[in-house]
Amino acid sequence: MTGRHPRSLLQITDLDEAGFLRLLDAAVLLKLQKSAGVEVPLLQGKDIALVFEKSSTRTRCAFEVAAHDQGASVTYLGPEGSHIGREESIRDTARVLGRMFDGIEFRGFAQETVEELADHAGVPVWNGLTDQWHPTQALADVMTMREFHPGPLQDISFCFVGDVHNNVARSLLVTGALLGMDVRLAGPKALWPAPEVVQTAHRLAEVSGARILLTEDVTAAVEGAAFVHTDVWVSMGEPQESWDERVPLLTPYRVTADLLRATGRADTRFMHCLPSVHDTRTELGRRVQQRFGLEGAEVSDEVFESSSSIVFDQAENRLHTIKALLVDALGQ
Ligand code: CP
Ligand code: NVA
Repeated sequence: MTGRHPRSLLQITDLDEAGFLRLLDAAVLLKLQKSAGVEVPLLQGKDIALVFEKSSTRTRCAFEVAAHDQGASVTYLGPEGSHIGREESIRDTARVLGRMFDGIEFRGFAQETVEELADHAGVPVWNGLTDQWHPTQALADVMTMREFHPGPLQDISFCFVGDVHNNVARSLLVTGALLGMDVRLAGPKALWPAPEVVQTAHRLAEVSGARILLTEDVTAAVEGAAFVHTDVWVSMGEPQESWDERVPLLTPYRVTADLLRATGRADTRFMHCLPSVHDTRTELGRRVQQRFGLEGAEVSDEVFESSSSIVFDQAENRLHTIKALLVDALGQ
């Protein structure tokens, strides 16, 4: 056991409020510097491993472009082709990668895997999504909310609707609680986050002053919300058959123009970590249409394509926040 590097980010609670805000401020600066063409490369000579057990577009590209912009190199190990977890244990892989790389990003299934990697690598390990947590997504989500709602974070109200027990919803719950925000989660009880996650949020809220609402009543939950978030109804790693039970359970929580109107605000913004099932331009979207007669699932195409939707600003901010994380951990 070489010990977990203090600059690892495995779940939101690895950060305190000041640490989270420091990363956000750094991301804002890096975004400005990049757009002005005056970015200073602080990661020259650094090597970063990107280990993916699951697919990715944004997270992989954000790590790759962030590293490149800052002068570091990356090595991508995809779901196939390395020995990890098959011929070589996580702890042995961690000790090998830790000898060659300055930092390791990991996306996969079990949270325990990224924790074991961090326990044995001796270099910073960043969780690029597990079944349980998606901390780098939460960084981009808050950065984006702050861009569209300047002022104290404590004044921001947001509501996540749908599968409130997934990695993105849990991360937003705990993040909002850490930062003192007005956090609402609306979804069917069968899909509520585990009690220990809700307890963590309440414990953080006692310190930060966050307001937390977990309810099945979606109309009450979105009232006054400045941001409405959702995510796919079946996450990576869950059986495809889950769609059969999730569609009837979650259809009342679909984000439609009517639901956005129920906030009572004209300026409510729609957010989604992406990818999204909002039309029939994907294989999954066509399957959902054929099987359930739904055009789009968790969000209507009308909302997704509307001027209320800030999903691509949110996606871009994955780059700036992940870059801030890398520079904070490895910058010189
Ligand atoms: N939001 C997100 O993590 O996207 P990818 O799965 O494309 O990385
Ligand atoms: N909850 C989704 C997020 C994808 C970025 C999943 O885990 O598949």
